[in-house]
Amino acid sequence: MKVTIVGGAGNVGATCAQVMANKELVEEIWLCDIAEGTSKGKGLDMYQSMPIFSSNSKIFGTSDYSDTANSDIVVITAGIARKPGMSRDDLLRINASIVSTCTEQAIKFSPNACFIVVSNPLDVMTYVTLKKTNLPRNKVIGMAGILDTARYRTFLAMELDISVKDIHALVLGGHGDTMVPLPRYTTVNGIPITELVAQDRLDAICDRTAKGGGEIVQLLQTGSAWYAPGTAVAEIVEAIVKNQRRLLPCTVLLEGEYDYEDVCVGVPVIIGKNGVEKILELNLNVDEKELFDKSANHVANTIKEAMKLIG
Ligand code: NAI
Ligand code: 2OP
Repeated sequence: MKVTIVGGAGNVGATCAQVMANKELVEEIWLCDIAEGTSKGKGLDMYQSMPIFSSNSKIFGTSDYSDTANSDIVVITAGIARKPGMSRDDLLRINASIVSTCTEQAIKFSPNACFIVVSNPLDVMTYVTLKKTNLPRNKVIGMAGILDTARYRTFLAMELDISVKDIHALVLGGHGDTMVPLPRYTTVNGIPITELVAQDRLDAICDRTAKGGGEIVQLLQTGSAWYAPGTAVAEIVEAIVKNQRRLLPCTVLLEGEYDYEDVCVGVPVIIGKNGVEKILELNLNVDEKELFDKSANHVANTIKEAMKLIG
């Protein structure tokens, strides 16, 4: 198994590589980045940590796409990250151009790869990747829901002072402030969350989740989160390479599901060796569907803007 991370010299890409390598998920990891020295330096440094982790994964850096040939999975983290005062949509113009160029290069050398998209605005960049690679929809997966759900689970565990492992939840919709945490599908080992957390606290936690990325941008001042995002990408890789058939919230192209056509947005899917094995359609109630629609329509409009930019 060979994984390429385009933008791999950056924070999210390098973290994802380190998590995959520490868990010995794949044999070869290529950090492909315009910052050639940084990708080679980080790759070598990471490789040198493998004896300590007792892992046989090999990590290399490059700026030459031919080194990435025949990758099984390509992760796209190339682009710029937001700074305080910016929304993810403010990254649209520059990242649409970067992601278009990178995916066109990567697919030339790895025509059979599964693509995992991370660059923001995430749902729109997933759509751009689909169009530029011409891959079937099961092979282009956007990572955001796992991160947003992990944030939600963390806040709930903090509130209840219990293990994060026992919180099971889903956050759907676009990866923006309109994302949709779903308390009705949130349990603590099967106990409905509404029996354990008062409604006003739950509302506050959902709101903090939706603004979770921005909270970290404000604290860091120089960029956005990378530890949880990089780890979330590795979870998708693990589900593919081990054919785990995990049920995970991911961004995929909808073709009629949830009443949407030709829009990439976060929904529950089964991830296995073929990428997206199945899309699950939940019976959202009226309030949940209204929130989902608001989020999906926002993404649909931004996709139109992006397609005008890149043609
Ligand atoms: P970063 O700035 O640390 O890394 C970006 C990397 O992309 C840099 O190493 C840069 O040299 C590289 N790059 C830029 N243009 C390139 C090109 N044309 N070809 C190859 N490499 C290129 O940024 P970070 O923090 O790693 O974030 C990366 C992206 O992921 C951002 O767009 C950010 O908003 C997004 N993000 C998305 C998340 C999600 O949940 N989907 C979570 C966290 C970040
Ligand atoms: C996040 O949610 C920046 O999208 C990134 O942290």
